[in-house]
Amino acid sequence: MRIDVLTIFPEWFDGPLTTSLLGRAIEERTVEVGLHDLRDWTTDRHRSVDDAPYGGGAGMVMRADVWIDACEAVWNDLDAEVTRGRAAGGREPSERFVAGGRRPRTLLLTPRGRRLTQDLARELAAEERLVLLCGRYEGIDERVHELVATDEVSIGDYVLFGGELAAAAVIESVARLVPGVLGNQESPADESFTSGLLEYPQYTRPSEVRGHGVPPVLTSGDHGAVSRWRLEQAESLTSARRPDLLDGPGPG
Ligand code: ADE
Repeated sequence: MRIDVLTIFPEWFDGPLTTSLLGRAIEERTVEVGLHDLRDWTTDRHRSVDDAPYGGGAGMVMRADVWIDACEAVWNDLDAEVTRGRAAGGREPSERFVAGGRRPRTLLLTPRGRRLTQDLARELAAEERLVLLCGRYEGIDERVHELVATDEVSIGDYVLFGGELAAAAVIESVARLVPGVLGNQESPADESFTSGLLEYPQYTRPSEVRGHGVPPVLTSGDHGAVSRWRLEQAESLTSARRPDLLDGPGPG
């Protein structure tokens, strides 16, 4: 799978993309990630990506022409020089401008988007290619939502400074579902959300910590009893903490 990210802070991703299992998957190219600086598609001396909102009001709005040029280039694996300034010339990006005729899933990270869930992560992991658009400031010109994004995705009901953290959450939740990223030992098959339940409690050595022991069933050697206990625990945790998960598929 290949994931391209458009951002004005490509360096933000240095930590998340080079650490731990995700870092290894990228190094081994099981997952490829391309980072693109949106400012490469600006046409003015100051490399500005934003401007004052039409109609007035506080804050700045990210410019549609820069985003459209950048997306068109990334979709077609072109350099910034080739596409810079085209959108302002009146060409609308569409399937016609994508090599092969099909625009990859292009996710705009925004609090107004569809909630990122394990179901959505699974859906995205089945794609060959994703493009993630990280907005900043007060907002993005609505024409970016209309003309380039195929999806709008939110990681929760709170507002971040920008989409970078949300894009990292998408990358990590999707990458770990790509075959070969997790070893068999760490299979995602029986973890929280995959089974529709929260995960049961886990324990390891030492058997006693500050006077607190381990549930005796786990050291009983009775595998059937261990499985039953884990299922009961998962069910009671889920009904106490996330009863919504027991009501069938959520809002997505
Ligand atoms: N950008 C700002 N806040 C966000 C959120 N909650 N989810 C996705 N993108 C965002």
